[in-house]
Amino acid sequence: KGQVFSGIQPTGVPHLGNYLGALESWVALQNEYSAVMYSIVDLHSITQPQDPHMLRDNILDMAASLLACGIDPTRSILFQQSQVSEHAELSWILGCLTSMPRLRHLPQWKMKSKQKNEGSVGLYTYPVLQAADILLYKSTHVPVGEDQIQHLELAQDLARIFNNQYGEFFPEPCALLSGTRKVKSLRDPSSKMSKSDPQKLATVFLTDTPDDIVLKIRRAVTDFTSEVTYEPESRPGVSNLVSMHAAVSEQSMEEVVRLAEGMDTGQYKNVVAEAIVQKLQPIRLEIQRLRADRGHLESLLAKGAEKARSLAAPVMTEVRKLVGFC
Ligand code: TYM
Repeated sequence: KGQVFSGIQPTGVPHLGNYLGALESWVALQNEYSAVMYSIVDLHSITQPQDPHMLRDNILDMAASLLACGIDPTRSILFQQSQVSEHAELSWILGCLTSMPRLRHLPQWKMKSKQKNEGSVGLYTYPVLQAADILLYKSTHVPVGEDQIQHLELAQDLARIFNNQYGEFFPEPCALLSGTRKVKSLRDPSSKMSKSDPQKLATVFLTDTPDDIVLKIRRAVTDFTSEVTYEPESRPGVSNLVSMHAAVSEQSMEEVVRLAEGMDTGQYKNVVAEAIVQKLQPIRLEIQRLRADRGHLESLLAKGAEKARSLAAPVMTEVRKLVGFC
C-alpha cells in the first residue's frame, strides 16, 4: 500500500503539538501500512548547537517517548538517523540538484537563522537532508504537522528533478496531515507550540505532571469574551483549547463546544486540563519506566538501524549506478 516515513528531532521530550500533530497518527499508521519507519533525526538536531552528553540522553529519551506513545518496534522500524550513513550520502547528491534560492524561504532557515544572525550551511540545507530521509526508502506517505508542508514540497520537487535527470526512480511522497494540524503556543496563540519556546508556560510536554498541566492550561492566553467558541481566526487562544480538547478526548469541535455551553473560559480551562491529564498520564508513567533501562533502548535502536540499513543499501546502490559512480 505504500511506504510510510517520518522523523522527529531529539531536542527534548516531545510536546502536545508533536503528539497531536504527528505522533498519534504515527501510531495509528502502524495498523494501516505494512512498511512503516520512524527516525530520531539526530543529524538534523545538530543544525542547532547541542551539548554532546545531552544529545546522547535526548536520543534515548526520544526512543522512550516514542515507545511510550505506542510505537511498536515489531510493526515499525524505529531507528537513529546517524546510524544509517546513507542519509548523509543521498543528501549530498540531492544537494547538488538543489538551487540556493530554492532553500532561502523555507521555514527552518527563516526562523532559526534570524535568531542567530547567521546560520550554518547545515541549517540552510536542513530540508535537503529531510528529502534524503524520505526518498532513501522510496517513501510514499509522510505523516507530519502543518509546519512541515514546505519541506515536503521540496522532497517532491527533488524526486521529480532526480527522475528527470537520471530516469524514473523515486515516487513523489505525499504528506499525511492529522486532524490537529497545528497546536499553538499557550502564551502566544499566533505561533506554534514548540520545544524551544523560552516561555516555560507555553508548552505542554508529555512528561508534565498533572499539576504542571493544570497550571499551564489555567494560565493559557485567551481573550476577554467569556463564552467558549471555536473561531480560530478571531479567537485563536480559546480555539486552541477547543482543538486540543477535541483531539485528546476524541470528539469533534462541535461536540466540545456544545459540552462547554454555559461555562466561562475559566471553568472550561479546568475541563480541558483534566482531559489532557487523562490522555498524557499513562504516557508519562510509561516514559519514566522505559527511561530507566538505557541498555534496552540502545539495543532496540541498534536493531532498528540494522533493518533500516538493509533497506537503504540497495536503494543507494541503484542511485550510485544512476548517477554514474559505478
Ligand atoms: P520536529 O522534531 O520539529 O517535529 C516532529 C513532528 O511534530 C510536528 N509538530 C507539530 N504539529 C502540530 N503542532 C505543533 N505545534 C507542532 N510542532 C511540531 C511536526 O510537524 C513534525 O511532524 N523536520 C522535521 C523532522 C524530520 C522529518 C524528516 C519529518 C526530519 N526528516 C523526514 C518527516 C520526514 C522536524 O523538525 O520535526
